[in-house]
Amino acid sequence: MISNFRFAIVSDLHVACPHTIWNHPNRFHLVEVSIPALESVLEHLTQLDIDFLLLPGDLTQHGEPDNHAWLQQRLAKLPFPTYVVPGNHDVPVLKGNQQSIAFADFPYYYRKFGYSEPEKCYYSCQVLPGVRLIGLNSNSFNQRGEQIGRLDNEQLLWLEEVLATATDELILVMIHHNVVEHLPNQSHHAIANRYMLDNAAELLQVLRRYKVKLVFTGHLHVQDVACSQGVYDITTGSLVSYPHPYRVLEFHKDKYGRQWLQIVSYRVESVPAFPNLQQTSRKWMGDRSFPFLVKFLTLPPFNLPLEEAQTLAPNLRDFWANIASGDAVFDYPHFPAQIRHFFQKYGAIAACGTPSFIDNNSTLLLG
Ligand SMILES: [Fe+2]
Ligand SMILES: [Fe+2]
Repeated sequence: MISNFRFAIVSDLHVACPHTIWNHPNRFHLVEVSIPALESVLEHLTQLDIDFLLLPGDLTQHGEPDNHAWLQQRLAKLPFPTYVVPGNHDVPVLKGNQQSIAFADFPYYYRKFGYSEPEKCYYSCQVLPGVRLIGLNSNSFNQRGEQIGRLDNEQLLWLEEVLATATDELILVMIHHNVVEHLPNQSHHAIANRYMLDNAAELLQVLRRYKVKLVFTGHLHVQDVACSQGVYDITTGSLVSYPHPYRVLEFHKDKYGRQWLQIVSYRVESVPAFPNLQQTSRKWMGDRSFPFLVKFLTLPPFNLPLEEAQTLAPNLRDFWANIASGDAVFDYPHFPAQIRHFFQKYGAIAACGTPSFIDNNSTLLLG
């Protein structure tokens, strides 16, 4: 097996060619920057001599054929291989409509980017000697035709087969929805649970059985590294929302056979139309966060009455931007004790109670 390699992750690109951009006053995503931000990242990655690039879904604004076509043409020009999986925004409908491609068409756009067998929406491929990437589809449709984040049984069975025959390889899994919680009680939170894979527990069981340690996700638009009983879920924030991050990762096997993964995160600092992208985008998010914060405060565990939620919300203007940045520590000493305590739990505090800043830059010992 190769003992050193380097790859990058760019997530939730939400590519929107100018003629496809929706005009909606409360739009949370700064899709205006999708293409210039991506170009700036690609320029950087081209200089770094990476072995491959991973895009864990939400490649497009909302599954528009023009945006998928633009992206696949752009990726075809890159000097390194790229692999994608679909996000909920890439395949929002089972049958194509005026706006979006049909679910089954997705792999045909990305035949060169993982889907060499485009009749399936998932794949396994050897990306380097002894390194296998498994791209999973987490988008399913319930009986009413509504989109849900769930891994179907067909994929779970297939995954078991692949892992059973790939025991000598390092396995990297890429899937759009989160498989380990990145926020307190994420699986049961009325707003945050939609970012988790419905049957994450089933997938984790299979991964643990075969000692798979690395899963790369997106969807939450937050920089976070979480671990559950040996499985790391490394989720990367969105290129179109604050802090416009991307990651470069370096795998290394030392002379004792120990495997290390070094993670370094970068941010897109500016694009031509937004010279102060970091400040503008942080303000953009703060300006739009009030309704979300009020709802958040009325839900468990806070359960505040609406009036109190509306009073506290302005204090939390930058709360979500700080969550999205990763490695944040929260304290609101003037809040009621119980509320203050709940907010502290959103900080980067390890189980032992001390801060643990591993979301953006860290080195993980994989074993
Ligand atoms: Fe997204
Ligand atoms: Fe998503």
